[in-house]
Amino acid sequence: MFSIVHVVAASENNVIGVKGDLPWHIPEDLQFFKDATIHKPIIMGRKTFESLPNKKGLPKRLNIVITKQENYKAENAHVFNSLEKALDFAKSQKDQYGEELCIIGGGEIFKQSLEFTQKVFLTRVHTEIQDGDAFYPELPDHFKKIESIKKTQEDGLSYSFETFENKKA
Ligand SMILES: NC(=O)c1ccc[n+]([C@@H]2O[C@H](COP(=O)([O-])OP(=O)(O)OC[C@H]3O[C@@H](n4cnc5c(N)ncnc54)[C@H](OP(=O)(O)O)[C@@H]3O)[C@@H](O)[C@H]2O)c1
Repeated sequence: MFSIVHVVAASENNVIGVKGDLPWHIPEDLQFFKDATIHKPIIMGRKTFESLPNKKGLPKRLNIVITKQENYKAENAHVFNSLEKALDFAKSQKDQYGEELCIIGGGEIFKQSLEFTQKVFLTRVHTEIQDGDAFYPELPDHFKKIESIKKTQEDGLSYSFETFENKKA
C-alpha cells in the first residue's frame, strides 16, 4: 500500500521559505530530513529543486521534479510536467525505492497534495517570520497530531518535531 508523506519545516505563521531559501539553520532538522527521506522517492517543485546545494538532486534518493516547462533539465533528477505523472513514476519504482513517497515542497506542491497525504512530519519552528514568501497550508482538523517532541538548540531557537495523521485518507 503506497503512503504519501510530507516532510516540512514551518514557522508558527506557516512560513517555509524566504527568497528561495530556508529562513533558519537547524542542523538537527536537516538530519531529520535526511533520515526521513533516505532511499525513498522525493517529489519537489522546480523552485525547491533550484534551492538544493549545487542545483543537483540529493544523493541516495529518487529525485523527482515537477515543472510546466518543456525540456527542463535537472541533474540527478527525473522531471515531469504534472504531479500525477510524478506520483505514477515514483510508484513504478517501488521495487527499488519502496512504497513511501515523500513530498518535500515547496508551498505549491504541499498544497496540491495535502488531500491525499497520509502523514505529515512537521518541524514546527517556534518563531514568526515576517518576510516569508512560501507557506505551508493550514492543516485541516482531520489531521490529528500523534507526536510532538520539543527541542532547543544552542542559539536559543526552539522547534518541535510533530507528526500528524490524516484520519480521512
Ligand atoms: N521549510 C521547508 O520545509 C521547505 C521545503 C521545501 C522548500 N522550501 C522553500 O520553499 C521555497 C520554494 O517553494 P515555492 O512554493 O516557492 O515553489 P515550489 O513549490 O518548490 O515550486 C513551484 C514550481 O513548481 C512547478 N509546479 C507547481 N505545481 C505544478 C504542477 N501541478 N505541475 C507541474 N509543475 C508544477 C512550477 O514550476 P515552473 O514555474 O518551472 O513551471 C512552479 O513554479 C524556497 O524558499 C524553499 O527554500 C522550504
